[in-house]
Amino acid sequence: MMDWEYINLHAKQWVLEAGDKIRASFDKTLNIQTKSDPNDLVTNMDKEIEQFFINKIRENFQNHRVFGEEGFGDEISDLNGVVWIIDPIDGTMNFIHQQRNFAISLAVYENGIGKIGIIYDVAHGELYHAINGKGAFMNDTLLPALSKKSVKESIIALNATWVMENHRIDHKLLIPLVRDARGTRSYGTAALEMVFVATGRVDAYISMRLSPWDIAAGAVIINELGGVVTNLRGEKLDFLSNDSLLVAKPGLHETIIKDYLKEGKW
Ligand code: IPD
Ligand code: CA
Ligand code: CA
Repeated sequence: MMDWEYINLHAKQWVLEAGDKIRASFDKTLNIQTKSDPNDLVTNMDKEIEQFFINKIRENFQNHRVFGEEGFGDEISDLNGVVWIIDPIDGTMNFIHQQRNFAISLAVYENGIGKIGIIYDVAHGELYHAINGKGAFMNDTLLPALSKKSVKESIIALNATWVMENHRIDHKLLIPLVRDARGTRSYGTAALEMVFVATGRVDAYISMRLSPWDIAAGAVIINELGGVVTNLRGEKLDFLSNDSLLVAKPGLHETIIKDYLKEGKW
């Protein structure tokens, strides 16, 4: 039997330490490089923080594997056994331009099931964490279960890209949703947008293409609160491949799929 409380205690400690390292980098010059396109940015801190976690995991949990964005972990093609899924800095563009609105996202999965989810909003000192079946917390405060909301009363987080013509979805499907909702927001960090659903700061979050490390920790936290996490067709995510994402309060999730996304008939 795995001692998830013990693993969680270590993981939270490492995340706080990593947060200190990131804060200490604020007045230093970052080394910024591009990845798949000129706006896909990575810094020396993204790499350093991922390596920091990997060293800690290797030292303490020799038979666990690591699936990390920056590629210092293992080659992962299945989620058998215990796999840590890590985004060292989610919202790198914000980290570089704003020094806020970014987070560390760390999850631990066992045989594909989310056991631990930790998201740290470094700039605000807000540590979100959950162990499967043991409640979700923001720092030491237990978060209440999510309750139903209508579209009319909802704030929906989504990027303006998805209501412009794009090659992932018929943008005309999302325009009525934007029109009917109370408001929309876009923060540029999937991990924080998911915990904003967890705390009720927003009611749903929609994105067309995210990677497992963007969403693995958030999914554990949202599930713990009775929220719903699927792709835009309402299907379960596999946490191995890129997919679209719809995270929402119960009821609201169903309404968005049925009344706006037409149950994936696109
Ligand atoms: C990005 C952020 C952003 C999302 C992008 C992600 P990164 O992660 O989560 O909100 O729209 O698709 O790649 O690259 O900053 O870790
Ligand atoms: Ca990310
Ligand atoms: Ca990242």
